[in-house]
Amino acid sequence: MRIIKQVQQMQKLAKQTRTKGLKIGLIPTMGFLHEGHLSLIRLARKEADFIVVSIFVNPTQFGPGEDYQAYPRDLQRDCRLIGQNGGDVVFVPSSEEIYPEGYCTFVELEGITRKLCGAFRPTHFRGVATVVTKLFYIVKPHFAVFGQKDAQQAIVIKRLVKDLNFGIKIIVAPTVRESDGLAMSSRNLYLSEQEREDASVLYKSLQGAKSMVEAGERSASRIIVTMEKMISEKPTAQIDYIAAVDDQQLEPLEQLSGEVLIAVAVRFGRARLIDNIILSV
Ligand code: PAF
Repeated sequence: MRIIKQVQQMQKLAKQTRTKGLKIGLIPTMGFLHEGHLSLIRLARKEADFIVVSIFVNPTQFGPGEDYQAYPRDLQRDCRLIGQNGGDVVFVPSSEEIYPEGYCTFVELEGITRKLCGAFRPTHFRGVATVVTKLFYIVKPHFAVFGQKDAQQAIVIKRLVKDLNFGIKIIVAPTVRESDGLAMSSRNLYLSEQEREDASVLYKSLQGAKSMVEAGERSASRIIVTMEKMISEKPTAQIDYIAAVDDQQLEPLEQLSGEVLIAVAVRFGRARLIDNIILSV
C-alpha cells in the first residue's frame, strides 16, 4: 500500500491506473477510522481494481468555534487499517496542498445545503462540496463511497455529481452501529460516560418513529413530538433538529408518504451527533 501526499503525484498515478483500464474506487474520509469507514473500504473492494482512501481533515467544512483543531487524528493507525482492509493508496494531502496560497474557488449548492445541518452549519456543505470536487479531479475515481449516516451529505454529493456531470457513481453504504444502536462516528470519542449512555437514544428514537409508521401513523408532527420527548428525557441531550423530510429536496413533510428521511442532530456535551433512517411509506 502506498501513501501519497502530493496532488500531482496522486493525479499522475490515477491517470496511469485509468490508462491500464483499471476501475478506481474512492473513499473520502477525515481519518480516525472506525468500523463504519472500514465497511466502506470493504464494499468498494468488491467493485474496484484500485482503492484510494483519502484522509484530509478539511478546514473549510468546519465553522468558527467548531472542532477543526480538536478533530481526532491518528495517521499511523489509519494507514494500518486501510492496508488490512484492502486499500491500495492512502492519499493524505496537507492543507497547503489542497488550499495553496491564494486559493479562492468554492463549490456551492443552493437550497438543499441550507436545510437540516446546513441551517446550523451555514458554511459546512460549501466546504464539503469544494473538497469532494477537488478529490474527484485529483483521484479520478469511477465511483466513490459515502456513509448513510451523513444522509444530507450523500444527497448533496449526488446532486453535485449530477449538476457538474462528473460521471462518477456514488454508492451510499449502510450506517454501522455500536451494539446499543449508536451510529459509529469519530466524534463519539468526545462523549463522557453519561453522554455516551444518553446518546443511544438517537437510534431508539428513530426506531420508535419507524414503529409508529409501521403502526399506521402518518403525521410528521406527532412522530417528531414523540421523538423529541424521548430524546429530551436524556439529561445531556440538546436537540438541534428532528425532521421528517422528502429524501430529494429535504422539504419538511406534514403527512409522510413516499421515501421519507427522518433525521436528527443532537448535541451531547461537545459532540454534535447526527443519525437518520429512510422509510418507504
Ligand atoms: O464525511 C466526511 O468525512 C467528510 O465530510 C468528507 C466527505 C471526507 C469531506 O471532507
